[in-house]
Amino acid sequence: MRMNIHPVLVHFPVALLTLYSVLEILPLAQWWPKGNWDFMRSFLLYLGTLTLYPVLLSGFVAEDLGSHNGALPYHKVAALITVVIFTLASLISLWRKGHDKGVAVQKVFAVLGLIALVIVGTLGGAVAYGYYNDPFTSMLTSFFGLQ
Ligand code: HEM
Repeated sequence: MRMNIHPVLVHFPVALLTLYSVLEILPLAQWWPKGNWDFMRSFLLYLGTLTLYPVLLSGFVAEDLGSHNGALPYHKVAALITVVIFTLASLISLWRKGHDKGVAVQKVFAVLGLIALVIVGTLGGAVAYGYYNDPFTSMLTSFFGLQ
């Protein structure tokens, strides 16, 4: 029997990668120099990125299991873009280990990733609960011409 576990799994990358992006974007080391920020960021980024892949697979299973509204193709594309952004962010972070080069690039990827997460999550909500569930979902689905 195939079950829809996509709504359960999505919370892991959304939580881990949202926190990662905020920690990457804010200049926390200047505010609290004693914090172990590199370790925390790496932990959140690598674990969050790894959890994206089961979410992606469960999304295709969820797609197969039922009929969905017009937000699904947009949600799917946003999901693939999100996976590419955070996979690249992880590779850049691995490459940067031990030196300070590439800080700006890493921050740009964190900003793009955060935007992508907001879009993919909102569109996922639009697939599951409709276009008028909250004002932001309504705005985004109208932006994509879905209503
Ligand atoms: C980055 C990867 C992804 C993230 C973060 C994500 C996120 C979400 C979220 C937050 C929801 C709303 C869940 C709920 O509360 O019910 C959702 C629903 C959904 N997603 Fe995704 N998704 C991703 C990838 C995909 C992919 C690749 C597909 C395949 C087409 C997909 C198909 C669906 C479907 C069909 C639903 C509706 C599920 C339902 O009605 O129970 N997702 N997604």
